[in-house]
Amino acid sequence: MSDAPQITESAVEAAVAAALAAIAAAGDSAALKAARAAHSAEGSPLADFNAGIRDLPGDQKAAAGKLVGGARARVNEAFAAQESVILAAEEAAQLATEAIDVTAVPTRWRPGARHPLSLLMEQMGDLFTSMGWEIGEGPELEHEWFNFDALNFDEDHPARAMQDTFFVEPVDRHLVLRTHTSPVQIRSLLSRPLPVYVAALGQVYRTDELDATHTPVFHQIEGIAVDRGITMANLRGTLEHMARSLFGEGAQIRLRPNFFPFTEPSAEMDVWQPNAKGGARWVEWGGCGMVNPNVLRSAGIDPDEYQGFAFGMGVERTLQFRNELNDMRDMVEGDVRFSRQFGMVV
Ligand code: DAH
Repeated sequence: MSDAPQITESAVEAAVAAALAAIAAAGDSAALKAARAAHSAEGSPLADFNAGIRDLPGDQKAAAGKLVGGARARVNEAFAAQESVILAAEEAAQLATEAIDVTAVPTRWRPGARHPLSLLMEQMGDLFTSMGWEIGEGPELEHEWFNFDALNFDEDHPARAMQDTFFVEPVDRHLVLRTHTSPVQIRSLLSRPLPVYVAALGQVYRTDELDATHTPVFHQIEGIAVDRGITMANLRGTLEHMARSLFGEGAQIRLRPNFFPFTEPSAEMDVWQPNAKGGARWVEWGGCGMVNPNVLRSAGIDPDEYQGFAFGMGVERTLQFRNELNDMRDMVEGDVRFSRQFGMVV
């Protein structure tokens, strides 16, 4: 006799119950696979019962076959049902991990903003080129001759000291960080045929402490026009046009006598701001005048034949009173939130 287990109803039912319990407990395909190996595959009690049928006496085979076959069918059905539940759950889990949220807002760099000084300088440059002027340039590390001598500053003129100059060592090379854009006047006259109409925008340096109204590095716009028959009326008209395009149609200018070595006569220029927040007002804006004959001579130009006017003003200062900004330090700190207030004009 084989050692095949006795095929009794209770033994078969016990095997079925064990199989169904294992199937119900299987939470994933690996557990289900293990349950199948233990309760249905070869070597499992139900498989052994099935194999044992052929050893039974002939009259018992049909009943045992029905019993074991029914049991295996129930177990297989339970496997199939649990398998489809597990597969569906596993597929859902995988889809969840691979899911892309097409409505999510992607992380990306926020656009920056152009600095208001760049915007203002561009506006100033455009204003002059639209009148047919050229844009002139000069180095920020400038020779003393261009920064002072050629502009008619005396050797020991107090203005040299007054300009709070950064002298660059070794001092016998006579290099300075330019204290104004006026040396571009000389460079423009020396490098161009007459007549000359040049505007220059650029960085200048003075030994000032950084505070609400000063920065040691700032920008100026300079203008020089040299032609036959230029008069102060041309200067006035040009400045008035500039004031209106930067401050609005109601802007006016006023000239007050002043002294600069490179212009004669010289004037301080004020601008009338009709729409200022605290009420209409005159604001000191820059310097100007008729080009001093000595400056023309420095550039090899005959002052009896040619005359000129010149002007210069600070760009930071212009931005500060035009946009009523309290503190100039905001302009140098580089916080994009400051720049964003001025829009994104490109
Ligand atoms: N360069 C002068 C300054 O920095 C400003 C200035 C005054 C420029 C009169 C000019 C001018 O061209 O004519 O203070």
